[in-house]
Amino acid sequence: MNPHRKIGDVILQAEAISLSFGGVKALTNISLEVREHEVLSIIGPNGAGKSSMLNVINGVYHPQQGRVIYRGEARSKMRPHEAARQGIARTFQNIALFKGMSVLDNIMTGRNLKMRSNFIQQALYWGRTQREEIANREQVEKIIDFLEIQHIRKTPVGRLPYGLQKRVELARALAAEPTLLLLDEPMAGMNVEEKQDMCRFILDVNDEFGTTIVLIEHDMGVVMDISDRVVVLDYGKKIGDGTPDEIRGNADVIAAYLGTSH
Ligand SMILES: Nc1ncnc2c1ncn2[C@@H]1O[C@H](COP(=O)(O)OP(=O)(O)OP(=O)(O)O)[C@@H](O)[C@H]1O
Ligand SMILES: [Mg+2]
Repeated sequence: MNPHRKIGDVILQAEAISLSFGGVKALTNISLEVREHEVLSIIGPNGAGKSSMLNVINGVYHPQQGRVIYRGEARSKMRPHEAARQGIARTFQNIALFKGMSVLDNIMTGRNLKMRSNFIQQALYWGRTQREEIANREQVEKIIDFLEIQHIRKTPVGRLPYGLQKRVELARALAAEPTLLLLDEPMAGMNVEEKQDMCRFILDVNDEFGTTIVLIEHDMGVVMDISDRVVVLDYGKKIGDGTPDEIRGNADVIAAYLGTSH
């Protein structure tokens, strides 16, 4: 944990969220808070509802009950692009990149919502469009340097090893300059060294840009190491919420993890 970073007020509250798919209750009455500048981990066994929770936060799923309050504004429904415009960026459990496109072009797609001019404006105001393009490039170059991926900028993403693809996905999310960054298993499938790199980048992002981070992760060592707080889900219910030390000593959490592969 970074001693220099100051955790602020609550920026997002999920209030009594319930979500089901047909007969499957993915989330039952879940409330949680996210505080500005913190690293919050959501953990739990497979199928616990972790990805569903992120999907509710960024408007991919609309819960049947409950609401999300983001920066003081309550909503029960929001579209993912509205969430993005409000500063919520996201990476996915299964990498969502354009495999045939270069690293650079993939990261540029993360800037789309920052581009103000539309097609007509681009035709009419050539100069302004040029300036915007240059500013976008500069921001993307900054991220490429930050995540140390200069050497692969021209490489098609599909040719990269998995660990680097995950890093490119993080770069694409950062290109949107998010306030709140949601990471769904950013270290899944990585070897120890790749995990260490990813942990360092996540903490650097949090430290350098003050980005609030909510991440889902199965590796308990990683979770306990990098999180300010941890929320534990099990069968769609919240069974724990606290600091890593509090979670380690939580009897319900220990019971939920006994007999599983985690
Ligand atoms: N789009 C969907 N349609 C139907 N059922 C869904 C859908 N999304 C999630 N579910 C169900 O909701 C439950 C929670 O799934 P979710 O993906 O949120 O779990 P998870 O904690 O992310 O699991 P994992 O660790 O395996 O990624 C599961 O039973 C899952 O099958
Ligand atoms: Mg998941």
